[in-house]
Amino acid sequence: MSRASIPDEQRLIAALDIPSGAEARDLVRELGDSVSFYKVGLELFTAADGFAVVDWLSGQGKQVFVDLKFFDVPATVARAVKQLQVRNITFATVHGNDAIMRAAAEASGDVGILAVTVLTSLDSADMRDLGFDCDIAALVRSRASRALALGCAGVVASGQEAAVLRNTLGERGVIVTPGIRPGQHDDDQKRTVTPTQALRDGADYLVVGRPIRDADSPKAAADEIQAEIRSALAP
Ligand code: C5P
Repeated sequence: MSRASIPDEQRLIAALDIPSGAEARDLVRELGDSVSFYKVGLELFTAADGFAVVDWLSGQGKQVFVDLKFFDVPATVARAVKQLQVRNITFATVHGNDAIMRAAAEASGDVGILAVTVLTSLDSADMRDLGFDCDIAALVRSRASRALALGCAGVVASGQEAAVLRNTLGERGVIVTPGIRPGQHDDDQKRTVTPTQALRDGADYLVVGRPIRDADSPKAAADEIQAEIRSALAP
C-alpha cells in the first residue's frame, strides 16, 4: 500500500476507548462524516460484545482496526487472528516475537497485521524496568524490519520513530502512529508528536483517542485534525 493510495480522510483513525457499545455508537454518530476509520481496543471489545460493535461499524461504512495486541503462544495467536477474518476488519495488532508475528501473518487472510514495535507510553526508563537496556529507535527499527519480512502489513510506532522507520523500510509497509497530540497534554503518552510532524516524517495513519473523545466538541476536534492532515500532505 503506497502513501499516495490512501485517501486523506482515511488517515485519521479515531480510537473508540469507550466503556460501552451504546456510548461508542453515540460518538460515531456524532462524528458522522468527520471520521471514516475507527479503532476498537481492549476497553470497548471487553465491555461490549466486541464483534457486535465491529460489525455495526462496518455496516455504517466505516473501516475498522481491532487493537487487541495479541501476545500468546503462536498457535493461539493464529487461531485468534482467524476469528477476525470475514468481518471487514482492515487491521489487527500483535505484540510479540518472530514466531508470534509469523503465525499471525500466516493466519491473517484479508486482515492486515500490524506489529506493535514499542508502546508509545514507554520511555527508556520504562524499557529498562522491563529488562530491555537498549536504544528504543534501534529496537523499533529491528522489530519493524522483521515484522515486514514475516508478512505483517505494517507496524504501530511512535511518531518520534516514524522518520527513522520510513528510512529503514523505504516505501514498504504502513506506519500507524498513536500518541498524537495536536496541542499541550497531560496524560500517560510520553513519546507524542503533532499530526503534521507524524505525517511529514512518514506515518501513514494517525491514531487519535483522547484529543477527540475528551474534546468539548469531538466533531470539531476531528475536523481540525482532518484539516491539519490535508494541509500537511498538500503538494
Ligand atoms: O488517547 P490516545 O490518543 O493516547 O489513544 C491512543 C490509542 O492508541 C489507545 O487506544 C492506545 O491503546 C493505542 N496505542 C498506543 N500505543 C501503541 C499501540 C496502541 O497508544 N503502541
